[in-house]
Amino acid sequence: MLSLFYENLRRGAELQILLNPMLTILNIKSKIAQSPYQAYVYSYPHKTAYRLLTPPVYLPELWAQQDRQALFLYIHIPFCEMRCGFCNLFTTVSHNEDFISQYVRTVQRQAQRMKAVLGNASFARLAIGGGTPTQLPIQHLETILDIAENTMGARLQEIPISVEVSPETATEEKLKLLRSHSVDRVSIGVQSFIESEVLATQRRQSTIQVEATLTRIKETGFPTLNIDLIYGLPGQTVETWLQSIHTALRFQPEEIYLYPLYVRPLTGLGRTDQEWDDIRLACYRQGRSLLLSQGYTQVSMRMFQRVEQKQGSNLSPSPVYCCQADGMVGLGCGARSYTNTLHYSNEYAVGAKGISEILQAYIQTPDELFEYADYGFQLDPEEQRRRYILLSLLSYEGLNLLGYRQRFNSDVYADFPEFSELVALNLAIRDEDILQLTEFGIERSDTIGAWLFSEKVQELMQDYELK
Ligand SMILES: C[S@@+](CC[C@H](N)C(=O)[O-])C[C@H]1O[C@@H](n2cnc3c(N)ncnc32)[C@H](O)[C@@H]1O
Ligand code: SF4
Repeated sequence: MLSLFYENLRRGAELQILLNPMLTILNIKSKIAQSPYQAYVYSYPHKTAYRLLTPPVYLPELWAQQDRQALFLYIHIPFCEMRCGFCNLFTTVSHNEDFISQYVRTVQRQAQRMKAVLGNASFARLAIGGGTPTQLPIQHLETILDIAENTMGARLQEIPISVEVSPETATEEKLKLLRSHSVDRVSIGVQSFIESEVLATQRRQSTIQVEATLTRIKETGFPTLNIDLIYGLPGQTVETWLQSIHTALRFQPEEIYLYPLYVRPLTGLGRTDQEWDDIRLACYRQGRSLLLSQGYTQVSMRMFQRVEQKQGSNLSPSPVYCCQADGMVGLGCGARSYTNTLHYSNEYAVGAKGISEILQAYIQTPDELFEYADYGFQLDPEEQRRRYILLSLLSYEGLNLLGYRQRFNSDVYADFPEFSELVALNLAIRDEDILQLTEFGIERSDTIGAWLFSEKVQELMQDYELK
């Protein structure tokens, strides 16, 4: 019963998006009156809008049409030591040494095929994420770095490299291995420094250990430390939230992500009441003010960054990766790949059974099938424009109207007349050719993002059957 309860929680963020009946029918003015926490838009379209591609797309032909000079290489490690109650990522706790070895060998096979598919390509960024990459035994972690460097040809010393770690798994030797391979950013999920708050989400974590791991990361000398924190946790108040941020600041992280908690309504942890929204909004505002007062700049609703030049960061050779325009090559089960016209991945699941089936199918994939995409979303010109707008507008740089015109040969206001509502409602301001969210707009990013989804994407997401 309890496991079903937490299974439901894990599905929270997805279901909150999928079941929100307001998504299609409200204009932005009505939507702003609703909860500010409608959908976390970290990419567009969401994976729940992906479907089987029939016939499968032959990747050498697809990638031949894509500019491949500044690609993002992403490697997904879908293993964790525990399944946190709030987490809806593609990851499993059911793994053993043998399965992990098979998984890493499969990533190697996939990489060899993809390298042949891509031909003359170069990578401007590398990220290893999950799940928890440091859950891998050290020899496998080393193999993953070796795949990036020697199979894919990423120049590790020259490009920004980010790896996600968790407090329990970031041992001294793994951290040293990462740094010796030029990893220059480590991102750690802390969520809260108040033990009772994380334990209430089924995340086993001791604050003493978290602090010891943060000290180890600092001592290993990564140029960028990112700390993830969550607000809206059970039992959390604005005061305890600020305590957590103050504790994080003691470690002088170059970046901090402040995530509002997303969970399914009516499950106990997930609340839908006005009070929960009010607490999250108060936490956001006070957390933001605190970070700004400590010299951080706000990059997006969730991301804050210390501005000074970081010693030892890998200088990205030009051209620099641009998330609105450049491609992403995903390796591993659960990783997404993006070209201008197609986003694709393996099938998606959040439940333990669905994830296990998809992982089994992944390790049994014959080499030649890695040259095809059979699950994804084709972006027509309208969807390409929406994606460009979403990714630009929701970050500090804003939407460059001239850049849009040059890229798409048309005008934002002609393509999306409803855009003028953003300025009228004080959600955005226009300064010459830049349209930027206001302070009010940034805190409503999750509403504005959901409002920008096309009807087609909204319908696909709502029809999606969560596994
Ligand atoms: C890949 S995980 C972090 C790495 C590592 N596995 C860990 O947990 O320490 C990325 C981050 O997303 C955030 N996150 C995941 N699910 C969330 C949810 N439902 N609501 C809010 N934040 C969430 C957490 O802050 C988490 O640290
Ligand atoms: S350890 Fe990280 S990725 Fe794994 S379940 Fe928890 S939050 Fe999700």
